[in-house]
Amino acid sequence: MKISVINGPNLNMLGQREPGIYGNQTLKDIEKQLQEVALEDAIELDFFQSNIEGELVDAIQQAGNRCHGIIINAGAYTHTSIAVRDAIAAIRIPVVEVHLSNPHTREYFRHTSLIADVCRGSIAGFGSASYMLALYWFKRQK
Ligand code: DQA
Repeated sequence: MKISVINGPNLNMLGQREPGIYGNQTLKDIEKQLQEVALEDAIELDFFQSNIEGELVDAIQQAGNRCHGIIINAGAYTHTSIAVRDAIAAIRIPVVEVHLSNPHTREYFRHTSLIADVCRGSIAGFGSASYMLALYWFKRQK
């Protein structure tokens, strides 16, 4: 099983970025944590991060052809990007939306996800464990 882990804008800044909200772990730390768990179950992970909307669309389309699933934190594009939404809707593999914070407890503009209803499910508010829980769901599908 191959899963693509896709991160959107500003998630490359984890560790430095608003640690009170997003914690102290870097994206590399989170990827390492995921990798360790994936290895136990012979799941292959592919990591991608971009601040550019079109690159995220490309990554989703490519994963749709090469992978069995996607774990995506689309960052702020969650709330704004019809293009990211359409890319997810266009592919057949299951996509799990994740967020470190719980957007519903934050500013009103974070309360809408344009991708939630085209994803298999959404996990938010558990810090890096949101990603781990998504991976756990994929493990159960094996
Ligand atoms: C986020 C929540 C988004 O609202 C925000 O724009 C992010 C990070 C999260 O993981 O909590 O960049 O997706």
